[in-house]
Parts: sequence; C-alpha cells; structure tokens
Amino acid sequence: MNFTIMAQEKTIDQKVDSLLKLMTLEEKVGQMNQYNGFWDITGPAPKEGNAAEKYEHLKKGWVGSMLNVTGTEEVRKLQKMVVEESRLGIPLIFGFDVIHGYKTLAPIPLAEAASWDMEAIEKSARIAADEASAVGLNWTFAPMVDISHDARWGRVMEGGGEDPYLGAQIAKARVNGFQGTDLSQNNTIAACAKHFAAYGFAEAGKEYNTVDIGTSTLYNMVFPPFKAAVEADVKTVMNGFNLLNGVPVTGDKNLQRNILKGTWGFDGFIISDWSSIGEMVPHGYAADLKHAAELGALAGSDMDMESYAYVTHLADNVREGKVDESILDEAVGRILRVKFELGLFDDPYRYCNPEREKSRLYHEDHQSGVLEMAQKSMVLLKNEGGLLPLKKNQPKIAVIGELANDNNSPLGSWRLGSDDNTAVTVLDGLKKYTQNLTYAKGPKVFNEDANFLNEVQVNETDRSGISEAVELAQSSDVVIMVLGEHGFQSGEARSRTKLGLPGLQLDLLKAVHKVNKNIVLVLMNGRPLTINWEAENVPAILEAWQLGSQTGNAIAKVLFGDYNPSGKLPMTFPRSVGQVPIYYNHYSTGRANEVPIVFWTHYSDEKNEPLFPFGYGLSYTTFGYSDLAIDSSNQSKIKVSATITNTGKVAGEEVVQLYIHDKVASVTRPVKELKGFQKIGLAPNESKRVEFVLTNKELGFYNHQYEFVVEPGEFGVMVGTSSGEGLIDSFVKK
Ligand code: NOJ
Repeated sequence: MNFTIMAQEKTIDQKVDSLLKLMTLEEKVGQMNQYNGFWDITGPAPKEGNAAEKYEHLKKGWVGSMLNVTGTEEVRKLQKMVVEESRLGIPLIFGFDVIHGYKTLAPIPLAEAASWDMEAIEKSARIAADEASAVGLNWTFAPMVDISHDARWGRVMEGGGEDPYLGAQIAKARVNGFQGTDLSQNNTIAACAKHFAAYGFAEAGKEYNTVDIGTSTLYNMVFPPFKAAVEADVKTVMNGFNLLNGVPVTGDKNLQRNILKGTWGFDGFIISDWSSIGEMVPHGYAADLKHAAELGALAGSDMDMESYAYVTHLADNVREGKVDESILDEAVGRILRVKFELGLFDDPYRYCNPEREKSRLYHEDHQSGVLEMAQKSMVLLKNEGGLLPLKKNQPKIAVIGELANDNNSPLGSWRLGSDDNTAVTVLDGLKKYTQNLTYAKGPKVFNEDANFLNEVQVNETDRSGISEAVELAQSSDVVIMVLGEHGFQSGEARSRTKLGLPGLQLDLLKAVHKVNKNIVLVLMNGRPLTINWEAENVPAILEAWQLGSQTGNAIAKVLFGDYNPSGKLPMTFPRSVGQVPIYYNHYSTGRANEVPIVFWTHYSDEKNEPLFPFGYGLSYTTFGYSDLAIDSSNQSKIKVSATITNTGKVAGEEVVQLYIHDKVASVTRPVKELKGFQKIGLAPNESKRVEFVLTNKELGFYNHQYEFVVEPGEFGVMVGTSSGEGLIDSFVKK
C-alpha cells in the first residue's frame, strides 16, 4: 500500500480516519492482535505449527504488533514482510520488556526508586530507550507503576514501592525518559504503564492472585501513578492478570472504558497482559475464548497479547452482532495513532539502523549513567561506630559470600535483552581500591544455572564453606559480607512466604560474627527482607538491591567513601512476615494507643513498628532539622518550610520529606501521607531552608462517590528525614 494518498491529510486523526475506511473487518482485528516472536526470522519460512500460522497471519495483515523480536535485522525482515506483502502494508509496532535497561542494565526499578532522584530515574529510562530503539524496538512494557504493600509479592522489584505520591513522580519520570520529547525520533520509544489496575494488591502476596480492595484504596493508592503516567502522555497502558473485586481487570469496562479512557481522557491504547484475555475463562468470567474476546473488546482492551482470542473470534463476534464494529474502529484508531506518532508510516524501518545498533549497545556513556544511578540507589541502613566508609589503606579485608563473586544475579530479574554474566562483581569492584583482600565463598547458596523460567534452587543443607569463611574472618580486620536473594528470586511469579536471607546465609553470618564483629553487610535483594538479627548485631548494613551492570563498581565507591549514600527506602522493611502488609500510610484504628490491658491494636508476639520505615536511610554525615514554619495565609498555597543543616564532617545529600495528616475527614485519611520531597546537597555546617507548597491537589482525596474533595479542618504536618521521624506542626484549612 502506498500511503501517499494520505499525504494530503493534515492531522494524524484525519490520516487514521482515512486508513480505517480502507480496512476490512479482518484487517481491523489484525491490528488488535499481538504475537510473540516465533522463529529465527532471518531463517527460512516455517512450514508447520504455530509459527507457520503466525507467518501466514503476518502476510495477511492479521497482526498489528510483535513482542520479543529484537535486532535490526530480524525486525527489518518482519517489518518488510508486512509492509510489502500485506494488502495495506500497515507497519508493525515492536514491543519488549525493557524494564531497567536493554543491554546495559541499570538497577532494578525498586532500587532506582530508593534514589528519590527523578532526574536520574528519567535519565536511566532514556538510556534504556536509546539502546532498545537501536535494536529495532519502539515500545517498552514499562514502567510498572503498581503500588504494593506486600514484600512477599515478587514483582515489587519492578515498581516504585509502596507510596502513591512517590510512585506518581516516578511514573512521570520514567514515561518522560522512555518517550522523550519527540516520539518520532529514532531513539525514543512508546512507554506502557502497567498493570491496570491493582495487581500489586494480590492477596497474600501470591502471584496472579485475587485482589479485593475498596474504593478509597483504589482511587487514592492505586490510581495516582497511573493518572500521572496518563498526564505525562503515556502512549499505552497494560491491563493485568488479576481479578479486581470479582471482575478480571482485562474485562473491566468501568476501569478501562469509563475511568481510563473516559474520565482521564487517555488517548493511547490498552494492551492486554500475556494471555489475560484468554485467562478470563479459567477465572470463571468468560464461558470460552470467543466469549472472552467479546468481553475484552467491550471492556476496552484494544490489543490482545498472545491469547489468540481476537484473531480467532472477534470478527465473528462482530458479524453476530455481539460487538459493534465501532468498538473495533475505536481500538484500531488508537493503535494506528500511536504508530503514526512513532513515525512508522513515514519510515517503517526508522528503528532498524545497524550502525546505531553497533554503536549504542553497552555504550560507555550508558555504563557511566547506570553507575551513577546505582550509586544513588543504595540505602545505608546502619553504620554504628562509623565503620563505614572503609579506609583506603585498611590492612586486611575479608570478603565473604557467594553473591560477592556473582556477575549474573546482580543483573536482576527482568533483563531479557541483556547478556548473562555481565555485571561487575563486588569483588572486582573492591579490587580496584585495594589488593588487601581475601575472598571466601562460604556455603553454596543458589544453583549456578538459575534463570528467568525456573525456580531458583536454594541450598539448605550443605554447610561446607562455612568453616573456611570463619577462619578467614578470624584473621581479618574487617569483613565485608555480601548476602541476599538471587536476582531471579524476585520478579514475576517469584512470591515468597519467608523474607529472611535464603539458605544458610544467616548461619554463615552468625558464625562469622562469633569471631569478628567488624562486619559490613552488603545486602542484595529485590524486595524488603526481615533482617532483625542482622540489624541488631551487625554494625554496618548497606542495602544494595540488584544494581545492574555496574554493581561492583558502585558498591565499592560507597564502601570506600567515594560516594556518600543518599538513598531512602521506598518500601517499609517489616520485622516479621506476619506484619505484612505493612506500610507507613495506613489508617488509624479506634484503638491505636497502647493501654495496659490487651485491648488495643497490636500483636501479642511482635512490635507494631517496622524494622526500617518508609523513607529511611542514613548518610556518612548527619542532618539536623529545625525551625519548621507554616504560612497558611494564602489558603490555596500553604507554605511549609524548615531548615536543614549538615551537622557532620563530610558533604552529603538528604531527601527532605513532607508528610501531612488530614485529621478528620468524611472518609478517614491515613495517619501520614507523603506530599512532597526535595533532595538537597549540603557541605559540612551548611544549612538550607527548604520550602514546600501545599495546594488543593496535595490536600484533597477521592471519597466514596469518586469525587475529589478538599475538606476544611486541621491538617498535621511533618517535615523529616523519614516517615518515622520529623518536626511536627499543624494548620487549619478553611
Ligand atoms: C507478563 C507480565 O505480567 C507483563 O508485565 C509483561 O510485560 C508481559 N508478560 C510480556 O512479557
């Protein structure tokens, strides 16, 4: 098809309309169909099975998008087939899970969230988009913006943590990073806010499980990051696998058609999650695949990822009058619009430049970018007696733990486009600072071939390696222990019921601690862990998550004081799994205060407080907070300010956090809500006055009638270093 006939059309909408008029019913359904990559595309045409069918469908124009096809050669070959051989030649859009990088990997998203640095997060997404677009991709299934209060749920690694305000800022930063300022550039890609909605509230943290939450949680906790993504002009949204209050979100018309496309005015398209249209059958919501296709389309799911529901049944549903063709026109219009915006109609091969592919992957600028991001993502949880930073001429350092010498696990879980075993290990990072170190692996922790598809195997029995590590610790001045989860222990379908260090790692730590208390514990994990013993007994703990390609270099810089840690936890660390779900912005109860008898809100066997609260994180320096002031004379712009002083000996950065509490409301408000933060740098003895402005946007909330209301009354204010500590005052909203 020669699209010059559309050249006279001025706007994208006009172009979309003229194209729609040329399309048959099957071709419209085709645009709504996405297939997974299927065979070595540059090889011979497949003769049989699923691949042969996909091949035929591509040529007929029955496929609008492919996922998991990468490489300029592969993408070009497939695009060429569709553009040249299908009747209308509408280009494909190529999607992939570019979650925290393509080849060069940044820290996992939860770690990035700990930086509270929106510029850095945007830059990291920009790097990811630059590399992804260089291999022919023009669409990422990111950012995941699901709020979660449950560390058992493995996918917390992929999100921005537990808070809707922080989550909304991150959503915006990531969308801007991926999409840039001009989507038609060959180094920007369409983003996808997922999973709409409430996937992070899976009961018991169990993957793909039921979600049952009320209006207030949905509107005030779950929606804000999605809404922020829409306001940042995100081009696509993915629905999800979960039921929400009895209806699969994929088939939920209220969510997709009324709220997202209606009230919020989202003008991009909605992609289903992988087979989530078909999964409405086992959910007990659709009778069969044909019924699922009908329900999905009516609910507003515009594109079917790998369910084969639309391609097999949607045209019949239309012919039988179950789905009006206008529903398809609307869906296809949305999809075509994004393709036009990406510039695919001007040049379907604009992302297929082999020179770019060669020069952009693992580019040194990307390596330095992710190194910077990795430094910013670490959270110093404890530093008793100033054990950290280590002195550069420290006489004898022992490095212990399998993860210290692992170049694969720190790459995280979502790194399908990257190469295995490409992370800088902690050991190699440390060696750049000193040769005075000796390594002992300790006991085996994980199976060597741990991968994306299978459960990680954890050694619980073979204790060999412990005594060697203990001996080494005994003869060393300082012990750096690198312990934690494997990168593949978090991510999709990686729910856990235990949140301690896997396998024999705590035993190893205790054994070492008996002979040498000078321990720096470097944690690698994709979720909050329960580390009570560690927090009580180990003098220094650095939360290092999974930091991606530059892991070892970033950790070494922090341990030796070339970078002063400034991260803050984006998720609460519980003391025990029994406290989960645990989050700082919970509601009060009628019996929140302790009384001498048992009848108040508490556990019989555990404290209410978390081990480390949301927003917590130390520095090599200390910060003083003083002079909190509130100016509420202009009620539409209430000003809150405080002075922050670097009271320590080295320069550092602090994330100054503002929390409010709407004390009495028609729908009870959480005891604290983050409504502002600023990351500031201070030299020793330097002070800065930090000011926040509270408008109705920050003070209001959604009530049970789904209305955004701002109610008069007293608001508590806290400005502090974490959700657990700060200066307190209040003002009255008239
Ligand atoms: C399933 C995941 O839930 C989703 O987030 C991802 O984008 C798709 N698989 C495609 O890989």
